[in-house]
Amino acid sequence: MDFTQHETTSPQDFIRTSVTILAAKIAVTISARGHCVLGLSGGSTPRPVYEALEKERGIDWSAVTIFLVDERCVPADHHESNQRMIREIFPRRTIIAPDTALPAAACADEYDQHLRTLFLTKGFPDIVTLGLGEDGHTASLFPPVPDEAFGERFAIHTRTKQYVSPDRITITIPVLTRATTTILLLSGEPKRIVWEEMIAAIDDTHRWPMKAILRSPGCEVVTRW
Ligand code: 6PG
Repeated sequence: MDFTQHETTSPQDFIRTSVTILAAKIAVTISARGHCVLGLSGGSTPRPVYEALEKERGIDWSAVTIFLVDERCVPADHHESNQRMIREIFPRRTIIAPDTALPAAACADEYDQHLRTLFLTKGFPDIVTLGLGEDGHTASLFPPVPDEAFGERFAIHTRTKQYVSPDRITITIPVLTRATTTILLLSGEPKRIVWEEMIAAIDDTHRWPMKAILRSPGCEVVTRW
């Protein structure tokens, strides 16, 4: 596994370190490519990081395209909606997100096509943020991760019995492993426990989808525990 771990010592240090890495990667990407395709995960850990990133000076947001790494199949204004959280934080940005007004399967098909067009026109993701659930999931790839998550599609419908909003839309492993940089945001004792269990575990990406990402180049892991 080839990743760089950034151990932080406080919530403020975690946020500052995460924002510094994100802002630097965005700037380098825009300088090199003229544009940055940025995938953002939902959940609670990244919220303060995104809030600080939005306030960061010097980012040319006009050259950044934001898309959702995953979404809960709830209305876009629902309190559990990832796009609601991200649109609240980045009100002036265009956010590419699943159309959760559609039934789950149709929503996944539509998002798959939307991402296909995005990646065809602007390239695969330059940067993707990810979290880690206590069951070992990342994005909305819940173990045992279905074979479809390793196939040709860029977005699929998944289900969870353990977390809010059982129906989900998520990007797939091939999209995640094609990202130039993945930034894992892991904060709190429960994340340390599941992280250490995963690192020690066998290399089974259906059980531990993040292992597929950790073996890809460009993986930055920001931890606070
Ligand atoms: C979601 C996220 C999910 C998240 C993990 C960790 O929609 O919930 O995309 O994959 O990253 O569940 O969530 P926390 O950061 O809230 O612990």
